[in-house]
Amino acid sequence: MAASVDIARPSGIDDPIVTVENLRILFPTRDGKDTVKAVDGIDFDVRAGETLGIIGESGSGKTTLGRALVSLIKPTEGRILHRGLDPATLTGAAFRRHRRDYQIVFQDPNAALNPRMTILDSVIEPAEIMKDGDDHTRRDAGLAALARVGLPRDLAERYPHQLSGGQKQRVNIARVLMLRPKVIVCDEVVAALDVSIRGDILNLFADLQREFGLTYVFITHDISVVSHISDRIVVTYLGKLMELGPAEAVVERPLHPYTQALLSAEPVPLPSALRTSRRIVLEGEIPSPVAPPSGCRFRTRCPVAQPRCAAEVPAWREIKPGHRVACHFSTIEGPPQRVPNQQYHAGGE
Ligand SMILES: Nc1ncnc2c1ncn2[C@@H]1O[C@H](COP(=O)(O)OP(=O)(O)OP(=O)(O)O)[C@@H](O)[C@H]1O
Ligand code: SF4
Ligand SMILES: [Mg+2]
Repeated sequence: MAASVDIARPSGIDDPIVTVENLRILFPTRDGKDTVKAVDGIDFDVRAGETLGIIGESGSGKTTLGRALVSLIKPTEGRILHRGLDPATLTGAAFRRHRRDYQIVFQDPNAALNPRMTILDSVIEPAEIMKDGDDHTRRDAGLAALARVGLPRDLAERYPHQLSGGQKQRVNIARVLMLRPKVIVCDEVVAALDVSIRGDILNLFADLQREFGLTYVFITHDISVVSHISDRIVVTYLGKLMELGPAEAVVERPLHPYTQALLSAEPVPLPSALRTSRRIVLEGEIPSPVAPPSGCRFRTRCPVAQPRCAAEVPAWREIKPGHRVACHFSTIEGPPQRVPNQQYHAGGE
């Protein structure tokens, strides 16, 4: 009998369904004289079947990244591979066929719904565009999708303005399900909803993931949401990644000063390990993504910045298996600590 062999695989490549390589997405400023560095050189992967949470403050590039992951925006530099294939190399029908596997649901429940179309017609529309089946089979599939997301049959002939925000978000999920995607990017999908129904929608996402083997990229600025549903969490700041690791480790033992600050600024009760005696509160504005700070982007707000932070961009280091951080001084023990009576701050542009 052959002996079983335990093959240790390098962390981070466990069956990637999306691979992001040195991705940059730049937009021209309004006067056309400069560029907004919305996403500015990032590398990570999304593993098949996982929920990857993305957190970061407003303007850190989360939506831009999410749109790029599903090929709604082209990379300015670098590439995004879907199961090893670069969708930017596809055109016409081949591109459309490929794209159906990578879908996005937005924060605004109205964004994808045509106010003049009935709910059922809206749900069927993506399948019509893809020429799936005929009128009869599409209608049956649409009704089944509405039932699957928990909407009663009589809503099918209504119009979007007759539904609540939560119901409309269920319709958006049904629309996406019609295409039987593999990956769904969820961009702040519960942020616009009443707190009382957020849990129901998150549970629906979890049920659908189990049933259809979906992979989620869950973008949110709500740490309680992301820690609740994610397998891994990636932390963004001003177009860069600061930390990526298993959800529990990132939330309970963050290794990057920015993650630590984000968590301590979070008003929602968090695990007791986070209730340290010295709470760090995130102060100051995020610098402009047109002219981000040199070296480490977080240095102008980092409580433990040192001169090196202005001079050198921190490497994207794996300091524990599967746990990456972009800080010169983080160790496996945690973020760097401020030395008493020493003024480190490397502020300024
Ligand atoms: N089409 C565009 N043209 C110019 N600038 C853009 C465009 N889209 C995004 N940006 C800029 O890129 C940066 C990142 O924006 P993005 O919407 O990706 O951030 P975000 O992390 O999703 O923020 P939020 O949490 O507020 O949704 C911002 O400075 C934004 O103004
Ligand atoms: S210590 Fe330096 S490298 Fe680390 S997060 Fe702060 S500014 Fe960035
Ligand atoms: Mg956004």
